[in-house]
Amino acid sequence: MARLEGKRAIITGAARGIGKAIAERFAAEGAVLLLADIDPAVEALARALGHEAVVADVSRKAEIEGVIARAEALWGALDVLVNNAGITHAATLDELTEDDFDRVFATNLKSALWGTQAAARLMGEGGAVVNMSSVNAVLAIPNQIPYAVSKGAVKQLTNVAALALALRGIRVNAIGPGSIATEMLAGIMAEDPAARGRILARTPLGRAGEPEEVAAIAVFLASDEASYLTGQTIYPDGGRLGLNYTVPVAGD
Ligand SMILES: NC(=O)c1ccc[n+]([C@@H]2O[C@H](COP(=O)([O-])OP(=O)(O)OC[C@H]3O[C@@H](n4cnc5c(N)ncnc54)[C@H](O)[C@@H]3O)[C@@H](O)[C@H]2O)c1
Repeated sequence: MARLEGKRAIITGAARGIGKAIAERFAAEGAVLLLADIDPAVEALARALGHEAVVADVSRKAEIEGVIARAEALWGALDVLVNNAGITHAATLDELTEDDFDRVFATNLKSALWGTQAAARLMGEGGAVVNMSSVNAVLAIPNQIPYAVSKGAVKQLTNVAALALALRGIRVNAIGPGSIATEMLAGIMAEDPAARGRILARTPLGRAGEPEEVAAIAVFLASDEASYLTGQTIYPDGGRLGLNYTVPVAGD
């Protein structure tokens, strides 16, 4: 049986990568979708899946609110919000600028906060929010300051919103992926053996994760199978968070 049958869901950052995999899995599980992305390619994906799309910059409060308003116009209700859109910015502590910090924070954290606020109003009593955090909520990379800080904040937003919305039956959980073979990472791993070695040396399962393996968790968290789960972050990371040493890499 389809696990999201009839559930009305918004997925942000759905044009490619993990968001696209979530859109495809949600569609296969019977959900009714509104896909949002700053990239107009999201419209072709939605058409191919037989669902709706909206082009929006979710880092802007008015635009993520516009996405929720579109769901209200379409359905008059909402069951699931997946706050997946996210960006990185590499810079040393010395080089980091306020503009770059603000851009990453607005995209990764504020979109999820204002999206959850507006979505919860539309959900009323009952629903599920799935936030996209990262292992970098917990693990630091010295030149990924706004990314790591924002993903830590998404983890804590998940806790806070879960408590705030618990008595309304709205569950809020997060996913904290490790290294996932989206197009960009798969390209780097294929072309740069040193980068591949660095990534796999911190991945006990010995391979990058697939976007579909993150999407499978999003389906679970959005579904009624997760009905007693709220305020949690689940880490599909190939074992990375438990690692306190480097591991040998096959083929090296
Ligand atoms: N790929 C990984 O290894 C990995 C690991 C941990 C966490 N994540 C998180 O998973 C999520 C998806 O990552 P991905 O690897 O698929 O990235 P990606 O760059 O392939 O896709 C991100 C999508 O978000 C969209 N987007 C970016 N800014 C936006 C904005 N302001 N408004 C609307 N849409 C916007 C992009 O257009 C793109 O379609 C992100 O939150 C990322 O931080 C990814």
